[in-house]
Amino acid sequence: MPPTFPSKYTVSARFYDAISAEWPIYGAGRAAAIPLLHLEAGAWVLDVGCGTGLNFPWLQRRIDPSGLIVGVDVSTHMLEQARRKVRSRGWSNVQVLAGDATTATAARLREPIDGAGYDAAIATYALSLMDDWPAALATMAAACRPGARLAIVDMQPPQGHAALWSPLARLACRAGGSDIHARPWTLLDHYCEDITARSVRGGHIQVRVGTVR
Ligand SMILES: C[S@@+](CC[C@H](N)C(=O)[O-])C[C@H]1O[C@@H](n2cnc3c(N)ncnc32)[C@H](O)[C@@H]1O
Repeated sequence: MPPTFPSKYTVSARFYDAISAEWPIYGAGRAAAIPLLHLEAGAWVLDVGCGTGLNFPWLQRRIDPSGLIVGVDVSTHMLEQARRKVRSRGWSNVQVLAGDATTATAARLREPIDGAGYDAAIATYALSLMDDWPAALATMAAACRPGARLAIVDMQPPQGHAALWSPLARLACRAGGSDIHARPWTLLDHYCEDITARSVRGGHIQVRVGTVR
C-alpha cells in the first residue's frame, strides 16, 4: 500500500517547528527521553522519522562533534527543513537520509556508519504515524549494536484528570496523521531489557528507553 502520511508533511513542513506545540507539550518527551539514552561523546545516534530535526540540538549537546547523528524520514519536505537546520547551525556531523522506515533494511540505515551498529536510536512522535510500525521498530533495533540504548516517545490519550484534554490530544494526533491508539512502546521489550518508563503531560506522552539485547 502506498504511504499516505507524507501529504501531512508537505506544505506544513515549513511551519512544523512553529505549530507543533513543542514548547508547551511535545518538547517534554524529548527532555524525558534523551538523558536516558546515556549518550557519550562520540556516540552514533539514529533518529527514525526525524522530521525537521527537532531532536538534533538535544542530541548534539551530548555527543559532541566527534559523534554522528543519522536522521531518516520519508518526507522530502521535512528533510529539507532538517537539512536547512543542519546547515544554519553548521553541524558537520549530521546526515539525513530519505527513506521509509517500515521497509528500509538495517544495512541501509547502517551505511553512514560503514555497517557498524548505532550506539543509540530514537523515534519521537513518529512510529504512531506508520502503518507497519512494528517493522520500523524491528529495523531500528537491528540497526543498533547490542548494548545500545533505544528510545520511543509517542502519544496516547491523556489519563486521569488530564483526560479532560483528550479531545484536543485526539485532534492534534489526527491533524498530524498519527494513530493515538498505536502504543508502539508496547513492543519495546521484544528487543530491549532494562526498560525505563516515563509518562509526561498527563500521560499523553509516553517514554520508554531500554538497552538493546
Ligand atoms: C509528527 S512528525 C515527528 C518528527 C520528529 N521526530 C519530531 O519529534 O518532531 C512524524 C514524522 O515521521 C515521518 N514518517 C512517517 N512515516 C514514516 C516512515 N514510514 N518512515 C520514515 N519516516 C516517517 C513523517 O514524515 C514525519 O516527519
